Amino acid sequence: MHQASNVKNDFSALKNVNYLDSAGAGLPPLRVLEAMNKLTEDWGLNGEKWEEWLMNVVELRSEFGGLINASRDEIGVVPSVSVGLAALASSFSFKDKKVVVSELNFPTNVILWQRMKESGLIKKVEVLKQKDGIIPVESYRKAIDENTALVSIDYVSWFSGARENVREVAEIAHKNGAYLLVDAFHALSVIPVDVKKDGIDMLASGFYKWLCGPHGIACIYMDNELLKDRSPAYIGWHGIKDNVIERILAGRDPFDIPFPLDMATPSATAARFEWGTWSPVVVKGALEALRYTKGKGIESRYQSISRLKKKLMEGLQDIGANIITPDEGLNPGAGIVTFAVKNQSEFVTELKKRKIIVSGRFKHVRVSPHFYNTQDDIDDFLIQSKSIGF
Ligand SMILES: Cc1ncc(COP(=O)(O)O)c(C=O)c1O
Repeated sequence: MHQASNVKNDFSALKNVNYLDSAGAGLPPLRVLEAMNKLTEDWGLNGEKWEEWLMNVVELRSEFGGLINASRDEIGVVPSVSVGLAALASSFSFKDKKVVVSELNFPTNVILWQRMKESGLIKKVEVLKQKDGIIPVESYRKAIDENTALVSIDYVSWFSGARENVREVAEIAHKNGAYLLVDAFHALSVIPVDVKKDGIDMLASGFYKWLCGPHGIACIYMDNELLKDRSPAYIGWHGIKDNVIERILAGRDPFDIPFPLDMATPSATAARFEWGTWSPVVVKGALEALRYTKGKGIESRYQSISRLKKKLMEGLQDIGANIITPDEGLNPGAGIVTFAVKNQSEFVTELKKRKIIVSGRFKHVRVSPHFYNTQDDIDDFLIQSKSIGF
């Protein structure tokens, strides 16, 4: 039986719309909403349970670490992918070196580095150009040299849906003494990711897309070895050594002694990239989303998403769409299929009137089925798209 038939009831929105926009924002399972509501009610009835809620941050680090094969101490919980990437970037200074990025990255993962260059913190940013929706590995081989300090790529492109050959890029980067940073927002919960096997030194991902969690939260990963000598340029009270969470974990009162004000020693763990207080409701939602995802089995998930993607691409080809997502044979991709349209706003609005939800992006339409979608959802989308025309 298709996996989606078993899970449709977990997502209220699927009763109302044909939702094909998980690359924009995934649907929240009932279990996630219930957990968030319960915490909100408890907050209203009893007030803040600060120390208890901080332990959800610790659990989230562990659960996220488990998802990508990292340890709890290698994970930090931050307010967004953009903040997480900036926190990681602030632990580097490459005044005489360059950073290599891809034009298929989400804008944050390019703009951040351009700004560092403009501020004199990086010598050069090399933005690799796509060809048919892919950055060929050859382009990485040419661009990455001994003057490269860091390579920063998106595991799966938010736009073309292509999947980077992360292991090969990691090998090229490491051979040249450069680090690899990966934004895995469109990979996690679609394909299995193992930071150790993939050779990823740093990673960031949010929760509100394929992980079906809330907005306003993300996790970062930094490899243990790198943590020994990379500290952020900016730090908050949750990032210091002997911070409140470390005190509670040691069985102490979080305010037993004052925090030193004559220095700022970072935590030995990736907590050093965490700055201020988290939203407890959002942390709880992210935790439940991770548990839900893990409970559904990630290994088999890509197979069902991949079947939907194949049907979608074949169907779009049949009705004459100009698809920019590479064929699976050329690049395995993940859950995103993008094709050109004359007027994206009109196309997306017309589909919305017919209760089909997709995203418009720069004269293109992005369709992103998740494990909760069915073959019928794809048929419905294809029939309606054909009747609208491109
Ligand atoms: C790959 C990728 N990274 C980052 C972001 C933005 O994340 P945040 O808003 O948490 O900074 C997006 C948003 O669409 C994205 O697609």
